[in-house]
Amino acid sequence: MFEIDKAAIDNVFRDPVTDNKFPILRFSLKDDRSGATLKQATIDTGTKKQIVAEQTGIALDGDFTPLGHYDVDIVAEDNFGQIAKKHVSFRTGRMGMPWEGKWLTDPDYAFAPKTSPVPFVFRRVFKIGKPLKKAMVTATALGIYLLKINGNRVGSDYFTPGFTSYKHTLQYNLYDITDLLEERNEIVAIVGGGWAAGRFTYSSKSHITCDRQAFLAEIFLQYTDGTAEKIVTDESWQLSRGGEYRFADFYDGEIYDGAAKDRKTVWRKAGIYKIGFSPRLTICNCPVRAHENMMVKESFQAANGKEHIYDFGQNFAGVVKLKIKGRKGQKIVVRHAEILTSGDLNVKSLRTAKATAVYICRDGEQEYSPTMTYMGFRYISISGISPDDIEVSAVALYSDMEETGGFECSESLLNKLQSNIAWSAKSNFVDIPTDCPQRDERMGWTGDISVFARTACFNFDVSAFAEKWLRDLRSEQGKGGGFPLVVPKQGIAAPTVATACWGDCSILVTWAEYLARGDKSLLEHMYPAMQKFLKAVAFWARLSGPGKYRKHIWKWLFQFGDWCAPEGNIGDWMKRGRWIATAYYANSCAIVSRIASLLGKKEDAQRYAVLSSEIAEAYRKVFTDEKGNLKNEFQTGYVLPLAFGMTKGEETAIMARNLNRLVEQKNWHLTTGFTGTPYILFALADNGYTDTAYRLLLQESAPSWLHCIKSGATTTWEEWTIDDRKEGNIPSFNHYAYGAVGDFLYRRVAGIEPIEGGYKRFAVKPVLGGGLTYARAFIVTPFGKAESAWQIHDGIFKLTVCVPVSCECEITLPNGEKHVVASGLYEYECKEEVSK
Ligand code: BGC
Repeated sequence: MFEIDKAAIDNVFRDPVTDNKFPILRFSLKDDRSGATLKQATIDTGTKKQIVAEQTGIALDGDFTPLGHYDVDIVAEDNFGQIAKKHVSFRTGRMGMPWEGKWLTDPDYAFAPKTSPVPFVFRRVFKIGKPLKKAMVTATALGIYLLKINGNRVGSDYFTPGFTSYKHTLQYNLYDITDLLEERNEIVAIVGGGWAAGRFTYSSKSHITCDRQAFLAEIFLQYTDGTAEKIVTDESWQLSRGGEYRFADFYDGEIYDGAAKDRKTVWRKAGIYKIGFSPRLTICNCPVRAHENMMVKESFQAANGKEHIYDFGQNFAGVVKLKIKGRKGQKIVVRHAEILTSGDLNVKSLRTAKATAVYICRDGEQEYSPTMTYMGFRYISISGISPDDIEVSAVALYSDMEETGGFECSESLLNKLQSNIAWSAKSNFVDIPTDCPQRDERMGWTGDISVFARTACFNFDVSAFAEKWLRDLRSEQGKGGGFPLVVPKQGIAAPTVATACWGDCSILVTWAEYLARGDKSLLEHMYPAMQKFLKAVAFWARLSGPGKYRKHIWKWLFQFGDWCAPEGNIGDWMKRGRWIATAYYANSCAIVSRIASLLGKKEDAQRYAVLSSEIAEAYRKVFTDEKGNLKNEFQTGYVLPLAFGMTKGEETAIMARNLNRLVEQKNWHLTTGFTGTPYILFALADNGYTDTAYRLLLQESAPSWLHCIKSGATTTWEEWTIDDRKEGNIPSFNHYAYGAVGDFLYRRVAGIEPIEGGYKRFAVKPVLGGGLTYARAFIVTPFGKAESAWQIHDGIFKLTVCVPVSCECEITLPNGEKHVVASGLYEYECKEEVSK
């Protein structure tokens, strides 16, 4: 059967909304005939028909106008003449239509620094006097807002309009509200401080974008008689500070007064706000939404005797959902934590975040789930109510992205690792890629996503999410070419300067996304920013000294170095900055050279390739004896040149041997930090030390991935061991950076390696070892599902490979046998024993 499987518009599968004049369509295919490719497809947008030969990057042409709803019919034909059809639809946003509404605020309100404001409530009552055809609202806020019409929540998105680099870009949302309207209507917007006005960053900044929160909306009413009406935020709207939400803050939580409904609200006239800057207003197409429902696995009385503890069995980002039998005024307090110590919540990994939800009851049965905050937690404790009077569950919140990958193998601890990696991604893809979801941080640290991007792109389709963030990254690039250490910069005082790995995000994240989805337009958009960044690096490197080689050693101005390495302290990690930065510099130049060729910029491609090899040469001359021995040895110092292809000839073997020796000296443990760990297994396995790579992967004592799992981890940790008895703060239990090992699971254990963007061409070449008897990974590519599944039984290795329609795969068996195949399902076997 030939079928059109999935179709996305602007990389969104579910309810796409676009502001683009030419929205971008992509669709994947399923075909049970081998060798199937798309011959052509007819795309009918109602007003225009296009004939295309591609499945991705199709710019839809259809004279689309604002606030429309469009149907697209796709008819695809494969090379065997089979026909498949699919119908998709999308909505258009404002498409640049100017806003007539005015920003509303409470001009009399001021709140103390280092805290969050009381949520404002804005309202407008309006009547509908004739039959309604359609009603829509577009809304945004400085802060975060929640809309209700006649008491019903509008949409199901969280933290709208989302977190962006507000001074450059502010998102708005579009909702169809036709079914919510009656004759007399009340629209209410609850607006909290969020990231823009509320407390944010580890130094508890507040008022970062504005003095107080503000709201802007326009309601579009279309009547069946062909007339239309518009209601916009203006002086006719009312304001109150006495709503149900008494307090809302990302770190500290929420106070919700369920009894407020029974009181009469005192409304005042809303004030008009001049926000003082003019961001580009653009549609939000990747909102945070509710995903998995989380069930309580176990509950018991806390050792302190005052609280009841509930264990969800999984660390995640989200909010609780409570069903309560309460009495008026009864106060229920819900605290959150990642771990327990001696039968009580241990909140030391939250640092100053209070992560507490307080619910004040009215009489009777009621439900509560926070909507203006989220927490990173596995455990909660509840006080103020008998366990018999409350039903507890929770929901995981993260940006709307499809799960597109899976990995499993014969070692159950590695399967748990895969699950932990995916959960840390979900927990940290909350509108922006954050470092952690629990403590007083949750910021867009660029280094974390730099190293995790490849793994993220296997497990999820992050295209819409990544594009949004990369747009902010571009906006926030400094004049000198560097990037802020966190994006959106929002409250971080550190200067915007080029820094290795963290700043390389413009290249590493874009490249990861390109390989996964094959979208060259992203490369085009990002290319100038990458070039500017490399120019900045060249400037800082030149300060290392005169001469042919020194000028490529990148040390200044500031480097994180071997951040979070298991040995030493921050000072020691940073001291390794110049080795690490220089290697990242060579790698980034090599990637940008490939990007330049893809974009047809031959001279640039040549220039960056030459620069990359000059930097590699500088690394060799300055840091090594030119034979492959570092003058100052440390694991990351060998890992990076090996993994980044900076070595040549005999030097490669010597470096690999040295790395292997350093690992052996640590009794088969890694000592690499954030920057080296994602690459150490590749450096070993690709250079003759597969057994050592597997030994590290399967190592069960610290520091190691499986040690965390053996210690009960359900997500990946910021550090490898965590002493929960330690006084003061402890590190995060939900950081995705070390989950970057997922890249090795897909690309080496299962052996799926993209060669061309979007897996148009890819390789399958499993690397066996570690005593594994089977492994399987699949990736939903933009063309369809790619899969590699192998097993070894009775001395026979069997490999099954699935190649998506229109793609080509180069398969290599462990005995060296090669096959190049078009789409289809293939099986091969050869003699092979299980290797330890
Ligand atoms: C974050 C890291 C981040 C680092 C950089 C930490 O506080 O949690 O993940 O990359 O700071 O310094």
